[in-house]
Amino acid sequence: MRTKLAEDMGLEFPIFAFTHCRDVAAAVSKAGGLGVLGVAGHGLKGLRAELEWIEKEVEGKPFGVDLLLPTRFVGSEQGGLDAGQLDEKIPQEHRRFVDELLAKHGVPSLPADVELTPEFSVGYEKQRDVIELVFSHPISLIASALGPPPGWMIERGRSRGVKVAALAGTVDHARRHAEAGVDIVVAQGYEAGGHTGEISTMVLVPEVVDAVGSLPVLAAGGIGNGRQLTAALALGAQGVWTGSVWLTTEEAETHPVVKEKFLRASSRDTIRSRSLTGKPARQLRSAWTEAWDDPENPDPLPMPLQPRLVREAQARIQRTAHKSPGAEQLINYFVGQIVGSLNQVKSVRSVIEELVQEYADTMERLDSWIED
Ligand SMILES: Cc1cc2nc3c(=O)[nH]c(=O)nc-3n(C[C@H](O)[C@H](O)[C@H](O)COP(=O)(O)O)c2cc1C
Repeated sequence: MRTKLAEDMGLEFPIFAFTHCRDVAAAVSKAGGLGVLGVAGHGLKGLRAELEWIEKEVEGKPFGVDLLLPTRFVGSEQGGLDAGQLDEKIPQEHRRFVDELLAKHGVPSLPADVELTPEFSVGYEKQRDVIELVFSHPISLIASALGPPPGWMIERGRSRGVKVAALAGTVDHARRHAEAGVDIVVAQGYEAGGHTGEISTMVLVPEVVDAVGSLPVLAAGGIGNGRQLTAALALGAQGVWTGSVWLTTEEAETHPVVKEKFLRASSRDTIRSRSLTGKPARQLRSAWTEAWDDPENPDPLPMPLQPRLVREAQARIQRTAHKSPGAEQLINYFVGQIVGSLNQVKSVRSVIEELVQEYADTMERLDSWIED
C-alpha cells in the first residue's frame, strides 16, 4: 500500500480517518494511518485542548483537522448573519413542530444549568479564528467540506507544508477544488455518512481521478473493510478517507444508545436527511428522521437555521436517551451505509490491522487469477 501520497505524508498506510473524537484520531495516527479531527461542534477553547492532547498523544506522528466551510447557506451573500437575524428567520410553525415532537415522545426538559454545544457557525470570516488556531498546531493536513477552501487557507497551508484537502461529491466540485489549488481531493460517494451527494463511490472515484490530473485522490464513502479498500485503490485512489467505521470502536465517544443502534442496524437503515444540519446528510433512521420526512410536517430549514432550530431539542434527546423510551426512539447520528457491517466493538488498532490484512489477502487472491 505504498502509494506516493502515503510516502509524501510519512504514513505507514494511506488510511485517513475522519472523526469528531480525539481518542480515535490519535489512535489511528499511532497505528500508522492519519487521524483527522472534525472541528465542527468544538468551541475555540475546547478545540485548543483537544489539539494539544492529540499532539502529545501521537508523539510526532502526523494528524490532521477538518472544517465545514459551506459556500452556500442562509446569509452567505452577507458573509453570515448574527444570532438575532438568524432567529428572526425561524418560523414559529417550525418551533412549534419541534416542541410538539419532543412532547409527543415525552422527552424530559433540560436542567437549567446545562451548557449546550457551541453554536454552529458558518462563513469563512466567522471561522477565521478556528483556522488560525489549527495552524498554530503541528498539523499535517487541513480539509474543508461543503465548499472549496478560501485562497488564504491554501496559501497558509502551502507556506507551512500542510496538505490542504477538500471533499467533493461530484466531478464539478472536484474540478473547482483543483482550480482553487488544493493538494488532495477527497471523492466522497453517496453511501457515506454525513453530508453527501447523490453519486456512488464506485462511479465518482474514477471520474474524479480522471478529472483532476496528477492531484492525489482519496476515496470516501462505504469503505469499512480491506476488500473495499482494495477496490478504492483499484479505482485510482491513492488512499481511503473513512468515517463510519470508527463510530463503533472502543475508543469512540459515540453516545452509548446510538452505538447499540449502529451495532444492530442493517445497510438499509440510513437516510439522507436535512433534519440535523439543513443540508442532506446521511444518518441513521429514527423517529426523528421519520417525523421530518413526513410530508404532513414542515420541511427542514436551510443551513444554518435547522441546526439552530434543533440544537436544544437534540441536547434534550441525547441527555435522556438512556432513560426515556421516547428519546431513545428519536436519537440518531450521522452514519453511512456500511453501518450494516459494523456488528462488533473493536479497537482502532484492530480495525487498521484487519483493513491491512484483508487488503493483502485480496491482492494475493486477485494476483492468483492472472495467468502467466
Ligand atoms: C459522524 C460523522 C460526521 C461527519 N462529519 C463531517 C464533517 O464535519 N466534515 C466532513 O468533512 N465530513 C464529515 N463526515 C464525512 C466523513 O468525512 C467521510 O467523508 C465519510 O464518513 C466517509 O464515508 P463512510 O462514512 O462511509 O466511511 C462525517 C461522517 C460521519 C460518519
